[in-house]
Amino acid sequence: MTIAANFPYPWASPIKDWAPDSWQRRVALQQPRYEDMNELSQVTTELSQLPPLVTSSEVLALKHALAEAQEGRSFLLQGGDCAEAFADCTSPIISNRLKVLLQMSLVLVHGLKMPVLRVGRFAGQYAKPRSTDSEIRDGVILPSFRGDMVNGLAFTPEARLADPRRLIQAHAHSALTMNFVRALVDGGFADFRHPEYWELAWVEHAPLAAEYRRMVVNIGDSLRFMETLAGPIDGCARVDFFTSHEALLLHYEQTMTRQVPRHQGWFNLSTHFPWIGMRTADLNGAHTEYFRGIRNPIAVKVGPSIEPDTLLRLIDVLNPGDEPGRLTLIHRMGYAQIASGLPPLLRAVQSAGRRVLWVTDPMHGNTESTSNGYKTRRFDNIRGELEQAFDIHAAEGTRLGGVHLELTGEAVTECIGGARDLNEADLAHAYKSVVDPRLNYEQSLELAMLIVRKSGHLDLRNLTTSPASHLMESCSPATTA
Ligand code: PEP
Ligand code: CO
Repeated sequence: MTIAANFPYPWASPIKDWAPDSWQRRVALQQPRYEDMNELSQVTTELSQLPPLVTSSEVLALKHALAEAQEGRSFLLQGGDCAEAFADCTSPIISNRLKVLLQMSLVLVHGLKMPVLRVGRFAGQYAKPRSTDSEIRDGVILPSFRGDMVNGLAFTPEARLADPRRLIQAHAHSALTMNFVRALVDGGFADFRHPEYWELAWVEHAPLAAEYRRMVVNIGDSLRFMETLAGPIDGCARVDFFTSHEALLLHYEQTMTRQVPRHQGWFNLSTHFPWIGMRTADLNGAHTEYFRGIRNPIAVKVGPSIEPDTLLRLIDVLNPGDEPGRLTLIHRMGYAQIASGLPPLLRAVQSAGRRVLWVTDPMHGNTESTSNGYKTRRFDNIRGELEQAFDIHAAEGTRLGGVHLELTGEAVTECIGGARDLNEADLAHAYKSVVDPRLNYEQSLELAMLIVRKSGHLDLRNLTTSPASHLMESCSPATTA
């Protein structure tokens, strides 16, 4: 990205009693237990010499864009794998994931009639929090798999050993992913004038394909019309694309925490937009301590058990100056709990006058196990939580400013339901996720269409006009990846 984010910045004053390693004085949950701490220290020394993955200017540009979303002027689409796998660092998997996100964003831009901010859950989403430390199979107990950045998936003592060298591999795979995403985006992959290039082979069979295609034609027509009037719209050859991951492994994140010549303060340059997971969002814990000192825009996952007071105290620690764009709260309540769990939080934040971007994650509160042993989510429950989220925000006078989804561009069968009505038996056909079940391509697109329908801006049977100006606002002449 080439943007120079030199907007006035009154929030860059030093954070009191904070250093990139001050988290080490707190309890850090969900960290691997390494057998050889000397090896860990060699690895972290090596990592701290390696180049970062993003730049501080990009990070500040995203913060600025998130501030716009807070003000209701754009919508955040954040999505990708639950856990990236080293083996999935391949051209088709990366480009299909990007295609799905781009296609969804096209639907949203068109339907919501506002710019969409695209943030991938990728180029670093290699570590997972787990609900149990160990896994038992046939009487054998081994440490749980915690993501490729920590240990291996195979159920053997060797694979499950936490290996610090995996931190370096994770950095390398993140850089490879980032490099390819940047090249695709720079090369016009995301050119709105040629959305037909984005078509995935099997969209042909999707029940919503006709509606989607109509939308694509419509958008192409209006861009050509605008170009006839105003000349070539160069910026539309590229769209902004940012990265995010759960910043779980604090030794790793510390190595990527850097100062830069042009901007004050400390930046986590492993990603644009790190988040704190629900299991580590502890007011006095190491993750909160680490996050309070970095200048990135940050997010916190908020589950059904958090008390409104605790949430307000977390907000105080993480965004004491109420800086625009700084803090996103991603609620993940579950379809059965959102109606009771969310309103008290919205009211508390609203009456305290705090500035946050509210985003819904309708995935993580809706995970269940099937009788045939798969971890799955029902599309109807995901949809149910998403629709309630819109209604609850509307009733409380707050704004739902984005969605956080687990999805893939691959033809997987991991979530039940959707337009093709996948059932439990179908899960066996193509269940590939190493952790949580993801929406496949069709289910993702369907959800994007549902968001538009729910937000009430688009009648899909009556697409006659296209808001080319919103598409153009979603493009960015000055930015690339
Ligand atoms: C996740 O996003 O993969 C995750 C573990 O979420 P949460 O922290 O909300 O449970
Ligand atoms: Co997950």
